[in-house]
Amino acid sequence: MMMTRLCRCAVLLITLLLISACTAVQISPGHTPSALNPQGTGAARIAELWWVMLGLGTVIFLLVVGLVLAALLRGRRGTSTTMPDSTGGDTGRNWPIFGGIALPFVVIGIVFGYSIYTLSAIENPQTKPAVKIEIVGRRWWWEVKYPDQGVTTANEIHIPVDVPVQVQLQSADVIHSFWVPELHGKMDLIPTRINNLTLHATQVGVYRGQCAEFCGLQHAHMGFMVVVQSKDDFNNWLSAQGQPAAAPTDPIAAQGQQVFMEAGCVFCHTVRGLEDKEIDRSSVDLGPDLTHLASRMTIAGASLTKNRGNLAGWVVDPQHVKPGSLMPEMYLDSQDLQDLLAYLETLH
Ligand code: CUA
Repeated sequence: MMMTRLCRCAVLLITLLLISACTAVQISPGHTPSALNPQGTGAARIAELWWVMLGLGTVIFLLVVGLVLAALLRGRRGTSTTMPDSTGGDTGRNWPIFGGIALPFVVIGIVFGYSIYTLSAIENPQTKPAVKIEIVGRRWWWEVKYPDQGVTTANEIHIPVDVPVQVQLQSADVIHSFWVPELHGKMDLIPTRINNLTLHATQVGVYRGQCAEFCGLQHAHMGFMVVVQSKDDFNNWLSAQGQPAAAPTDPIAAQGQQVFMEAGCVFCHTVRGLEDKEIDRSSVDLGPDLTHLASRMTIAGASLTKNRGNLAGWVVDPQHVKPGSLMPEMYLDSQDLQDLLAYLETLH
């Protein structure tokens, strides 16, 4: 009877595992980050460690289940009454020593050693980084700078494939954590301190990153995208980002530029090319650099896809999308809003 119940439980467990494996939905990689789908050398090391730990855990689980079954079977056969006595040896005492001390010591030792090895391999990459990026975590978005090229952007990092990239992490306010599960492990951004990690992507693609340290109301909406490109595409992107924004030629967009200046957007957002106008620069870095906004895939810390509807919603009612963010509501009439959107869409 007991065996029948155990068999049923085992069948149910296996069925549940199979069902959960079958229902995994395939969405584009940019939207389903998984540390078990490594596309970078750091993430590959971490995934390897994960599989080693899963393997050891499975072996131990099966061992324990086997011993429980063996004990149950012995109990049913009535052999459990033959306890070791003074003449029967000390088998009973050896089990706790082996299973309770020796085995955990060996297993935890292996996991600890492997973790240290993985950490050291990730921290000390073989090749010297060829590209440098500075990232500043802000509530709740990411400022991204390429200091050698004088490029500043936000919430979207482009890197070349098969090239190690040095990422320097700082925070402007509270502790954040930079995490791109498919490329690397987490690294904290700590106020007053600079942390470094090396991103080394091995596969072209778009990967989603996320702040992984609770940092306030909009922590969950502090995402970003990492675009891994061929070296040529990356160099083209970088040189385009280095250009100032072109002056709008379309009259509606030109009117929108006026709205951008007069409604106050320009006091928090840089658009390179507008810098000769009279602007109080003291607050200009409060919001993301918008020089090439239209070239990005997302807005608002990767919480919205960039399209006209989302841009409009974000401009007029940002506190609905991200309550607590620094972006204020803009009271624009519909014509001004359409002009402003037309202008923002020219910022390629
Ligand atoms: Cu920044 Cu959580």
